Amino acid sequence: MKFTNPKIDRNAPCWCGSGKKYKHCHEAFDEKIRSFEMKGAVVPSRKLIKTPLDIEGIKASAKINIKVLDAVSDQIKVGMSTEEIDQIVYDVTKSAGAIPAPLHYEGFPKSVCTSINEEVCHGIPSPDRILKDGDIINVDVSTIYKGYFSDSSRMFCIGNVSPENKKLVDVTKECVEIGIKHVIPWTFLGDMGHAVHQHAVENGYSVVRQIGGHGCGLEFHEDPWVSYVSEPGTEMLMVPGMCFTIEPMVNMGSDDIYEDEDNGWTIYTEDGKPSAQWEVQVLVTDKGCEVLAY
Ligand code: MF3
Ligand code: CO
Repeated sequence: MKFTNPKIDRNAPCWCGSGKKYKHCHEAFDEKIRSFEMKGAVVPSRKLIKTPLDIEGIKASAKINIKVLDAVSDQIKVGMSTEEIDQIVYDVTKSAGAIPAPLHYEGFPKSVCTSINEEVCHGIPSPDRILKDGDIINVDVSTIYKGYFSDSSRMFCIGNVSPENKKLVDVTKECVEIGIKHVIPWTFLGDMGHAVHQHAVENGYSVVRQIGGHGCGLEFHEDPWVSYVSEPGTEMLMVPGMCFTIEPMVNMGSDDIYEDEDNGWTIYTEDGKPSAQWEVQVLVTDKGCEVLAY
């Protein structure tokens, strides 16, 4: 059997950079991971385990991400264009000494994703797109600070939103809260994803299958890929030090989606019904998880 993480000399310095000997640092931790792998589990490679230094950097980045979303939250209103949201994100990020991660990412033209109503994700800000009374909008912010990445998104209800759409927004937030509770070390991402899916289905909704969450911290998108329609006991083992997003896209109607042919980015629901998404970035700890960005 070929293992994800090769054995190392017990007296060599630990791979985590603590300066301690391996046998006094991560040896037992690695053995535990290996025992799960021997039983057939998908396990994280060492590069997905954040060191204390990495965690400090990711937290500083996440703080800025939260600040940017707080600024959007303070200013978003009926009649505002999504371009103005982009401007707020750019300005607040830059004045914090950081970089908006979406800008020029694989050719994405703006600093933030703004996805309204039946837009599922990756909506592109535009001066022509004006927020109307009753809209629901996801604002997805990602930050690079000193080389560290953070990522989170929130929903905003513009003016008087229908009770149906308000419920979709609220239940989607509950899905994320349930996901957070199910981030338990030495259990599986599939356990968490399943709990998220259950809550959406119990409320009559569906969850997008093709797009999910991701590891985040040293890069914008790292392993693991995170599904919210998964089965218990499947997907990657969660271990302390892993950092990833919980960001289910919950549809009022069917889970079918399609991509905008003209801009190559924006994803829409096939049936034109609304979709909601909240996103948090979590760090797996010894007991559960810490929410770094929200
Ligand atoms: N922020 C999105 C996510 O949660 C990624 C957007 S990529 C972009 O993964 F280029 F559209 F910004
Ligand atoms: Co994300």
